[in-house]
Amino acid sequence: MTTKATNIHPVFDRILTREDKEGFLNQNSKVIWMTGLSGSGKTTIAIGLEKELQKQGFLTQILDGDNIRTGINKNLGFSEEDRTENIRRIAEVSKLFLNCGIITINCFVSPTIAIREVAKEIIGAEDFLEVYVNASYQVCEQRDVKGLYKKARNGEIKNFTGLDAPFEAPENPFLEIASSEMTPEESVEKVVTAVMTRLIKK
Ligand code: PPS
Ligand code: MG
Repeated sequence: MTTKATNIHPVFDRILTREDKEGFLNQNSKVIWMTGLSGSGKTTIAIGLEKELQKQGFLTQILDGDNIRTGINKNLGFSEEDRTENIRRIAEVSKLFLNCGIITINCFVSPTIAIREVAKEIIGAEDFLEVYVNASYQVCEQRDVKGLYKKARNGEIKNFTGLDAPFEAPENPFLEIASSEMTPEESVEKVVTAVMTRLIKK
């Protein structure tokens, strides 16, 4: 680890404010933060949600763990410390998008209450719309779209969420989607309905 920088003087002057940019885009920027087990449906819902919001004229950006971990966070693993750093960085990135007036759709396992608190703290409670994509470990293991559950069961993956690393369900999410009890289209529709009033610029 390198030493922390000192003698830093942030500049806050800007020509356009967040409100100006939201005005240009005719939308309120928010972070739609999806949390849930691997394979619970976060990415599928995010893609559907982006398509639906785009049809309705909203500008969005998907931030997805599997992608982010090949770029800005490619030096991080799945220890509790690395997951926290993963989420801290992505919350900071989300804040940059917020200040550009852009809605982000975040798909991160973000497995613990403490980790999601880190994100909420950075983003701000007002702009943090927590969506719990709820599918049981058994259901996700049965789907096993990427074959990770099998590998984890065979001991080829350590710190696997729900097996030998914790997942704590949100206690009071903005929205909960029981993804195994409805189609992806129904899940998307439910999210759209829930977030719409927050995104529309009055
Ligand atoms: S976290 O916990 O929020 O930092 O994780 P995240 O950045 O969302 O990355 C999760 C994706 O990484 C793959 N993967 C694992 N997930 C959980 N536990 C372990 N050990 C693990 N190893 C790799 C997996 O594809 C996750 O993507 P999703 O879309 O959630 O299945
Ligand atoms: Mg995914």
